[in-house]
Amino acid sequence: MAKEGSVVREFVVTEAERKVAELLPIDADPEVARATVAAVPFWFHTFALGREHAIYTPGAARDHRYRLPWLPDDLTGKTMLDVGTFDGFYAFLCEHRGAARVLAIDNEQYRQWVAARWGIKLEGGTGFRVIQRLLGSRAEYRRMDAFALDRLEEQFDLVCCFGILHRVENPLGLLQQLRTVTAPGGTVLIETYGLDDDRGAPSIRVSEPGEVYERDEFVYWGFGKAALERLARIAGFVGAAQLEIVNVDGHPRIVGRLRT
Ligand SMILES: C[S@@+](CC[C@H](N)C(=O)[O-])C[C@H]1O[C@@H](n2cnc3c(N)ncnc32)[C@H](O)[C@@H]1O
Repeated sequence: MAKEGSVVREFVVTEAERKVAELLPIDADPEVARATVAAVPFWFHTFALGREHAIYTPGAARDHRYRLPWLPDDLTGKTMLDVGTFDGFYAFLCEHRGAARVLAIDNEQYRQWVAARWGIKLEGGTGFRVIQRLLGSRAEYRRMDAFALDRLEEQFDLVCCFGILHRVENPLGLLQQLRTVTAPGGTVLIETYGLDDDRGAPSIRVSEPGEVYERDEFVYWGFGKAALERLARIAGFVGAAQLEIVNVDGHPRIVGRLRT
């Protein structure tokens, strides 16, 4: 296990995440790239800091390729909100694809499960800020809870909410919050924990604390397609589209679009 303040060595960059990371080539000077990897004791996302010298951040996320078909290739002039951004890969990727305004928020809950699972004390937003500097990015980071989104005086064309819905006590409330910040005609891309055997009933599975990921007590729910679609309608969306359940590293994930 990695010690506090050291880089997490057991995370070997997978070929799959390398492919995802290369959608946002950073290619910094090799010394700067290596120092950047070492500056942050825990990375969630893999960033391609130097492809020529194979310098990548050792992200804990194993394989995000399944998300890519849902992400628009061209976001020229659009506004984008990334809810639960962590190191911000999707916020930076959307900016790279032309988004004119990007806001990335996170309540930094991850500090608790990173400490519980890997024994690492992490300052909030460190990875995001380091990458933001390297890219010269104008994406804005705010430490903020998703349940306060209705206080934002802004709406967005694209809202990404990846990896959170199963981590909140009130998933319907979170979908209602997402609805308030989605512009007319806008889209929410949602990704969360799914069901192993989705039989088409509007079912939600309840996990024991620590059952899904060892020592991570913040995974509460697994959603079937019909359940997510029904929750989305109750929250004020027209409905859900292109919902798919995929198995990633032994875990069922559900991904799709919610439309206003
Ligand atoms: C598993 S990580 C996913 C990171 C990124 N969205 C992705 O999927 O690649 C979940 C993130 O959501 C954040 N989070 C959890 N609950 C939140 C809430 N209520 N408001 C804002 N962020 C939250 C966590 O701090 C963490 O950064």
